[in-house]
Amino acid sequence: MNYRHVFHAGNFADVFKHVFLTRILAYLIRKETPLRFIDTHAGAGRYDLDSEAARRSPEWRDGVARLLKARPQGEVAQLLAPYLEAIGPYDEEQGRPLSYPGSPALAQALLRPQDRIALCETHDEERQRLVAALGRDPRLSIVGTDGYVALGAYLPPKERRGLVLIDPPYEAPEEARRVEAALSRGLTKWPRGTYLLWRPIKHEPEEARFLRAIAAAGAPNMLRLEIDVGAVAPGPHSPTPLRRAGLLIVNPPFTLIEEARALMPWLTRLLTRAGKGGSVCEWLTPPA
Ligand SMILES: C[S@@+](CC[C@H](N)C(=O)[O-])C[C@H]1O[C@@H](n2cnc3c(N)ncnc32)[C@H](O)[C@@H]1O
Repeated sequence: MNYRHVFHAGNFADVFKHVFLTRILAYLIRKETPLRFIDTHAGAGRYDLDSEAARRSPEWRDGVARLLKARPQGEVAQLLAPYLEAIGPYDEEQGRPLSYPGSPALAQALLRPQDRIALCETHDEERQRLVAALGRDPRLSIVGTDGYVALGAYLPPKERRGLVLIDPPYEAPEEARRVEAALSRGLTKWPRGTYLLWRPIKHEPEEARFLRAIAAAGAPNMLRLEIDVGAVAPGPHSPTPLRRAGLLIVNPPFTLIEEARALMPWLTRLLTRAGKGGSVCEWLTPPA
């Protein structure tokens, strides 16, 4: 597999995922006790949106650039503050961050000295970029182990608090089933953990099958979020560009559904093309 996240960094689907990642981390750090963040598919950590690779596929222009130029107000601004702070300085005219933080860099920015960050990345060059991007940090453990395999060893974390992000590239046809299996094993080993699963939504029947399979596992407290940004023009690295993405959040902070109800319509309006988008915010399985 030759997936490189730089071609998609900061696009609408990254903004959607990273906004909710930062909301969950912001909630978890309210309590002083340590936590662990486990990223099974970490990527390169940070992305230079002015690099040759990103220039070939400037998807960020319809993602993070729209957000940075929008200057949100009120409740939405408050909810976005941890994400915007972690993004840091940016070119105001273009809405281009000096570098775009992937999930590992967002966790590094938000978490505290007592927390731990475990990152899996199997692609050697991406892992080297990740190590270089995050620098020396005693909270970090970066491994080249398959994230699904490593997850079995990491759970339950000794802190008994934290978040697992499962965010694979979905290039392999069996990926969705591997995600289902990983969640099911994870919930057996750590039923009270919080899990954030990202997925592209391309085929309605496959999406319905995925949701049925997850719900049938019988665990309560799963929040389903979806964003649809409408039709997107093809690009060199996205011949069939994504227009829908989903997040499944298992054991979300109790505050998250209300936050999602405020954020989802705003994000959808911001990221939609030609006014044809929509969003979903509902329980896949209700809290127990
Ligand atoms: C979608 S990107 C990750 C993006 C990152 N989580 C973020 O939000 O910034 C997926 C990454 O998973 C890596 N990968 C693919 N299969 C893997 C596996 N089985 N275990 C760990 N990493 C894997 C790919 O090389 C790629 O860099």
